[in-house]
Amino acid sequence: MQLTKEEKEMAAGKHGRALKKSMEILIALGEIYGAEKLVDVTSVQIAGVSYDNLGDAGLEFLEELAKDGKVRVLTTLNPAGMDLENYKVLGISEEFAVKQKQVISAFAKMEIIPTCTCTPYLIGNNPHFKQHIAWSESSAVAYANSVLGAYTNREGGPSALASALTGKTPLYGMHLEENRAAQIKVKVKCKIKGTWEFGALGKAIGEKSKAKPTLILGIKEASIEELKSFSASIATYGGAAIFHMKGITPSKTSSRKEEITITKEDIEKAKKEMDSECGVDFVTIGCPHASLAEIAKVAQLLKGKKVKKEFWITTARPTKRIADTTGYSKIIEDAGAKFAADTCCVVAPIKNRFKCMATDSAKGCYYAGAKNNFKVKIMSIEKLVEEACK
Ligand code: F3S
Repeated sequence: MQLTKEEKEMAAGKHGRALKKSMEILIALGEIYGAEKLVDVTSVQIAGVSYDNLGDAGLEFLEELAKDGKVRVLTTLNPAGMDLENYKVLGISEEFAVKQKQVISAFAKMEIIPTCTCTPYLIGNNPHFKQHIAWSESSAVAYANSVLGAYTNREGGPSALASALTGKTPLYGMHLEENRAAQIKVKVKCKIKGTWEFGALGKAIGEKSKAKPTLILGIKEASIEELKSFSASIATYGGAAIFHMKGITPSKTSSRKEEITITKEDIEKAKKEMDSECGVDFVTIGCPHASLAEIAKVAQLLKGKKVKKEFWITTARPTKRIADTTGYSKIIEDAGAKFAADTCCVVAPIKNRFKCMATDSAKGCYYAGAKNNFKVKIMSIEKLVEEACK
């Protein structure tokens, strides 16, 4: 790989140990994927923040880098293992909280903004068309490449951190125009509405197209919330880092030979596969993290009601703060539902704590089963609120 003078110096350790280690990671990645050089990035988002996933080895790695590492570009974090302020109400142990706070302190020492969210684009880490970035949360990667038109590979936690510290990423994969074009044309023959149906659509398309870039035709309109749900789902069920939705997403792409059709039956089948026989004991909204509009909707639906089941709304801390000032939080909390800011139902250490989780998120359904051993039921936000109050 061709390196600039400054990059060679970083690799040689002239700018400290954290940059040396970071360059080792980036050069190794670049060589594996045949990158000719590194490219500057303007934004980073780092996954692998929950102590539940990192463990002590991960914490030590971060503390080592934090000794002399400082980020060079705007960098935010993926959800942590707990609400950093309100963890006790959510049943998180003090022992776990101590470790999780050490993880966040190590990131903060590197001048990373310790906002823990999988929707960085909703809270100010919002790159624009054709900017090179290094993000690592799969749903945010699909959203950034497809909806924002920014360029990012799906980074691992360490490579994203290396990019944050150096301001660089290897030029390969999604950073190259030729890899972003659609290879499969997808004709959607039915109406899709709501985050849960866009999640079901992402599952149906993802399972058929796998990780290949798609050009999706037939969607007349999609809200930000529906697109974030779809991005999460197509990345989870197919592994795609990019899709194009005609008339909705910004990049131009030509259609390709391979063609698939999605019908109402495909959507019903996807929904059915996320609808277990079980009695709901946990309701959650906010995978990916809830927007202010979603919180407003939940507040409107919950006004004057009382929930009878554990009900979490997972969101970014800045979004929760706005919900506090607008009064949505009070309505929601008066009804007995709980905010779980900074975290989510997948990265929190809640394995086996519930039996049956209801959500509007297809991605949530996948990981609640795979990671936390829950049975799942997918439904619309309206039905979720009804279910929580039953
Ligand atoms: Fe975000 Fe957690 Fe879902 S990281 S996309 S809320 S699984």
